[in-house]
Amino acid sequence: MTRALLLRMSNSPTIERFVKKNGMSAGFARRFIAGERMEETVDSVRQLNAREMTVTLDYLGENVSRPEEAHDSVEYYRRLFKFIFDNRLDANVSLKLTQLGLDISDSLAAQNMRLILEEAAKYDQFVRIDMEGSDYTERTLSIFYELWGDHKNFGTVIQTYLYRSETDIHRLIDAGARVRLVKGAYNEPKEVAFPDKKDVDESYVKLTQELLLKGNYPAIATHDPVIIAATNSFVADNQISVDRFEYQMLFGVRRDLQNKLVSDGFRMRVYVPFGTQWYGYMMRRLAERPTNLWFVLKNLLRK
Ligand code: FDA
Repeated sequence: MTRALLLRMSNSPTIERFVKKNGMSAGFARRFIAGERMEETVDSVRQLNAREMTVTLDYLGENVSRPEEAHDSVEYYRRLFKFIFDNRLDANVSLKLTQLGLDISDSLAAQNMRLILEEAAKYDQFVRIDMEGSDYTERTLSIFYELWGDHKNFGTVIQTYLYRSETDIHRLIDAGARVRLVKGAYNEPKEVAFPDKKDVDESYVKLTQELLLKGNYPAIATHDPVIIAATNSFVADNQISVDRFEYQMLFGVRRDLQNKLVSDGFRMRVYVPFGTQWYGYMMRRLAERPTNLWFVLKNLLRK
């Protein structure tokens, strides 16, 4: 119930205005977001790299409605690739197709993504297309396959709460594509997604095992200690080498577990979001763990 409410609030411009006015200054957004400008991420990325973790930088933004905004996003990514290179950060990039114009047209988003992949290739960079709500799944994957013929420096994300994901995983495995597996962060109807967490978790374990056996360098993106323990056992039982996959977690979430996995010899990549458009991202993090709300309220009261 609270989860659905928080996810609905993530689409409310009025609440967004209030939270954004108080958020960064009250400090609670800082727990999940590295800063508002790319320059502000350097310390966080360097600290993670020093802890032997790689990073994926997410320049926050979604659902742009004008082609000029989508164009600005492409220009921003051009600067971001150069910035990562110039600062010698061990980081790649994650982005959303609605930030590149998917709400305007599929062809605009595809064309912008192509420009980004060409630019990324100049820096030998890898780009991950995040997966958004289920209205976008088919279109995101179509664009993925359209570009896959010409580019290989990118991958995408599959959400285990969707019924369709098993079929999608098989096709991506056959294509040799790199997949990040997540449970899924959006408010989805029961017609397309498992309503029970137990089924989402079961699907996660099953699809993880398929990716580990047959996938191309999968990213197991979860903070779930039970699933991580099961994955570690599966990897050991099947003699899968630790350099064949990576764990991924979000900036500010389960830092203890991030450190533990690295000290146990596993690869860990931390997803580090930044930018001024942090409201939707932060609300999805609160929805995942409503007890985080206390942290938010405490910070607002302290102000
Ligand atoms: P689950 O929600 O069951 O949580 C397991 C445990 O993890 C909790 O008990 C708690 O201890 C901890 N935890 C989880 N979330 C927390 C939080 N916000 N704050 C504090 N503790 C928390 N989704 C999507 O739809 N599209 C995408 O492209 C991506 N991309 C992505 C990248 C990366 C690197 C990660 C880690 C996650 C995503 N996600 C995503 C989000 C994902 O779908 C999911 O919502 C979250 O990872 C939470 O699910 P868990 O697998 O962690 O399990």
